[in-house]
Amino acid sequence: MATIQINNLSKFYGSKEGGAAVSGLNLDIRDNQFVTLLGPSGCGKTTTLRLIAGYITPDAGTIRVGDRVVSSADGVAPPDRRGMGMVFQNYAVWPHKTVFENVVFGLRLRKVPAEAARRKVLDMLAMVNLAGLEDRLPSELSGGQQQRVALARSLVVEPGILLLDEPLSNLDAKLREKMRTELKQLQRRTGITFVYVTHDQAEALALSDQIAVMHGGELQQYGSPDDVYRRPANKIVADFMGIVNFLPGTVEAGPNGLAVAVDGVAVPAPVHGTLAAGQPVDLAVRPESVRLAVGEAGTGRLAATVTDMTYLGNLVEYWLQLESGTALRAQTHPLERFSVGDRVNLSIDAADCSVFPRAGAAH
Ligand SMILES: Nc1ncnc2c1ncn2[C@@H]1O[C@H](COP(=O)(O)OP(=O)(O)O)[C@@H](O)[C@H]1O
Ligand SMILES: [Mg+2]
Repeated sequence: MATIQINNLSKFYGSKEGGAAVSGLNLDIRDNQFVTLLGPSGCGKTTTLRLIAGYITPDAGTIRVGDRVVSSADGVAPPDRRGMGMVFQNYAVWPHKTVFENVVFGLRLRKVPAEAARRKVLDMLAMVNLAGLEDRLPSELSGGQQQRVALARSLVVEPGILLLDEPLSNLDAKLREKMRTELKQLQRRTGITFVYVTHDQAEALALSDQIAVMHGGELQQYGSPDDVYRRPANKIVADFMGIVNFLPGTVEAGPNGLAVAVDGVAVPAPVHGTLAAGQPVDLAVRPESVRLAVGEAGTGRLAATVTDMTYLGNLVEYWLQLESGTALRAQTHPLERFSVGDRVNLSIDAADCSVFPRAGAAH
């Protein structure tokens, strides 16, 4: 079973005063899943991947693959004993070897008989849409095709787990999107567990079954794309997963339970757990959850003025200002048009909001 279970994993480079690159990480990766480690540069994604692969040794914690402990205080299995393949950012195919020679390498190392190896290589090249290109040199291929050679080379030895470190970041935008779809299909077809690293939230949302959002070496949230986008665990996650408005408000008791008062208007947002009436909070609102209408505000609607707009083709983005001066962004269908200076009223789709205690605010 190609599951990975990570418990309390930590890694320091150099002195402990410098802080941990990865700190107390717990992660359960199920079989046949596409799991993405997502976070800004320096948050510990590559370190985590290299700890899983066995290229570096942790300072604390355990890693299990299936029911086997591959890394603990008792010992650390070398990379070639972990049943994993790895694909790097700079896909590093051998420039002087043909596509076939690049891909067959791991099979020869494992002493697979020549004819069986040939068949496996050709099948794998077909799988990554490189059929017929086996005699080409990497210099005769596009960037996307070279990346597919690197993928084929890792996949041909049938690893239970494939680790991928920002494998698409060297490709141009269009190709990246195409390869994104191919990677997802490849994972589904092979049933291999993919652990994928990226700093690109759109890529993570598009590809993953589960996303582990990391920040400062720590796991912030582990959940489905919908979870991390629509139900972020904290402000760091809300902020990293696309555009978000943080509207300052106060928790208040209303006829239907707790709500958040923003500019004197009660927004029936989901107020959870420890938040009580009177608590200063930030209401996290995605731009697509703000609806605009012409005219003065009525019940439950916030008065605002359009201060700027950007036409983006498939949508229009508005900058708005509430009476209190708070600025926010909204995105609407391009057929709904408002102009700079328009007085509008806003309703907020409360189901898509999150509420967080305001940092530094005394209760
Ligand atoms: N070989 C190294 N020596 C010292 N510090 C390192 C080394 N590799 C990474 N770091 C530091 O560890 C932290 C996490 O790095 P890394 O795992 O590469 O992040 P990411 O892949 O998310 O960009 C960063 O602060 C980085 O500077
Ligand atoms: Mg990295």
